[in-house]
Amino acid sequence: MASIAEAPSYKADALIAEDIDAYLLQHQHKSLLRFITCGSVDDGKSTLIGRLLYDSKMIFEDQLAALEADSKRVGTQGQNIDFALLVDGLAAEREQGITIDVAYRFFATDKRKFIVADTPGHEQYTRNMVTGASTADLAVILVDARKGILTQTRRHSYLAHLLGIRKLVLAVNKMDLIGYDREAYEAIVADYRAFATGIGIADFTAIPISGFIGDNITGPSANTPWYRGPALIEHLETVELDVESDQARPFRLPVQWVNRPNLDFRGFSGLISSGTIRPGDKVRVLPSGRTSTVDRIVTLDGDLPQAVAGQSVTLTLADEIDCSRGDVIVLADDPSEVADQFESTIVWMADEPLLPGRSYWLKLGTRTVSATVQTPEYQINVNTMEHLAAKTLELNAIGVANIATDRPIVFEPYQANRDLGGFILIDKISNATVAAGMIRIALRRSQNVHWQAIEVSREAHAAQKNQRPRLLWFTGLSGAGKSTIANLVEKKLHALGKHSFLLDGDNIRHGLNKDLGFTDADRVENIRRVGEVAKLMTDAGLIVLTAFISPFRAEREMVRQMLPQGEFVEIHVDTPLAEAERRDVKGLYRKARAGELKNFTGIDSPYEPPESPEIRIDTTVTSPERAAELIVERVIGPWVHEL
Ligand code: ADX
Repeated sequence: MASIAEAPSYKADALIAEDIDAYLLQHQHKSLLRFITCGSVDDGKSTLIGRLLYDSKMIFEDQLAALEADSKRVGTQGQNIDFALLVDGLAAEREQGITIDVAYRFFATDKRKFIVADTPGHEQYTRNMVTGASTADLAVILVDARKGILTQTRRHSYLAHLLGIRKLVLAVNKMDLIGYDREAYEAIVADYRAFATGIGIADFTAIPISGFIGDNITGPSANTPWYRGPALIEHLETVELDVESDQARPFRLPVQWVNRPNLDFRGFSGLISSGTIRPGDKVRVLPSGRTSTVDRIVTLDGDLPQAVAGQSVTLTLADEIDCSRGDVIVLADDPSEVADQFESTIVWMADEPLLPGRSYWLKLGTRTVSATVQTPEYQINVNTMEHLAAKTLELNAIGVANIATDRPIVFEPYQANRDLGGFILIDKISNATVAAGMIRIALRRSQNVHWQAIEVSREAHAAQKNQRPRLLWFTGLSGAGKSTIANLVEKKLHALGKHSFLLDGDNIRHGLNKDLGFTDADRVENIRRVGEVAKLMTDAGLIVLTAFISPFRAEREMVRQMLPQGEFVEIHVDTPLAEAERRDVKGLYRKARAGELKNFTGIDSPYEPPESPEIRIDTTVTSPERAAELIVERVIGPWVHEL
């Protein structure tokens, strides 16, 4: 058993003591491996991480002293150090913070530096693993030799593979507890191989270890003479890094910012995601597709003759071509793809479930665009890898769905390039990250549908009608008076010779939207369709009135963004719930209270009032007739002067 005195010592240790400058210099030029450990506490994860930190002498002296004292006091391991105490102690500290779910620990050996992401295995595992794994080169999958491959092992491996971790280590731990039984070890490895092949993991490295004893951690263990492979640290020190293989791929530079200190200099700065670049190389700027030649590679330390993946650089080009933040500079004759519809794997990370059809921000590389997710094709049961039918995705769920962006973006499939294939979705109202996604393939269908140029423009349509198109968007609770007021407004417009059309919730739900109910997702789709129809009608030059509850800010905002500035007029028909319920014109509130009507707005389905509507009508003080006059005055008034 490795006691404190016997712990393997690294040369770095001596160097730190003798010549700190030499140590730091050596340290700076070491390569960095990022990895994650997966497994539950029972699998010995804490002990293993503690062991790695301890053996590489990256524990501070005071922590070490405390550890020795604690180990003796707690006494679970006799006179030996209980490494789990070290990590668990850090974990306890960490738990006082509220948001950090992934702890990153740093350690180093003579050959390499390491960052290990420790992802707790509780029920938030998916979200945490995504966070920890998205930048990892390698995953150590821990299994308890006494238990073999468990559901959790499969789940973690699947996630690691899904998140694009190309190197997997199967660490069969607690070998001491099965008497270093070679056959049992080999059976576990064979078991794992069968599973891994099935989900497309081509290769992995299996190592029999004991984190507690220290077998095959830093060097070969005398307890496993039959094992000829590397010890864990040896493997971590020598495994090829992703950045090394990234350099062999075609050149990609997502432009982070345009560096323009004066009129004579214009450079494009960013972190090279893959490939190699030299002055004179022909490049293409995407999505525009314009080509040029690299003139200089500028860095803080002077110009470079060559730059590779992982380096931050500023490129200057031989020609004055358009290129801005979010564009990607690529090798001219081996460019990335550009598309606006994708099939993606999505990991949902918010408490609120996915709302298909809702517009989210999609951030990929340095580009942020609007995007909608369609109803998932399926959800994946991460324990069995089964595909299940799904209408939405809830917290921690993983599914495959099509995504449409509002403009083409430059991308690579995630499995080829994590920077240009991975994205996050952000809620537009709360600004919270709600999902992480991985592009699988572009959908080509949109590329065969071309926008047809129509010669009678929307301006021409409007001019012929002698009016400016508007969308008067009435929103409010059921029974608030939206339809009544909208109807009166339209009568007045009609009498004034205006060309209008009223889209009313109850009516549209008898035709175009008769397939939709009142779940959040259906309401999102209801408003999306109505928004599109209303938009077409304004293109035709009409003054469109819509009377829908339209309970969510996000969808009302989405419709606003679809129209030219100033054309969308949000009208909040503000009737308090108690008043709408008192009137109960359709008897629906009574039914909802009796439990006969589910998802009723204001009762068991939310209504998000507008924060700054163009017009607000308080129906407790303003009559429908007066409201209609006010609206017409407000909307027509300025036009009378304009026309
Ligand atoms: S929205 O929320 O999707 O915008 P919409 O305006 O189309 O709703 O339809 C609302 C109308 O449907 C209500 O005025 C009411 O007559 C009827 N209705 C039936 N069930 C419900 C329900 N569960 N919640 C709200 N309205 C309902």
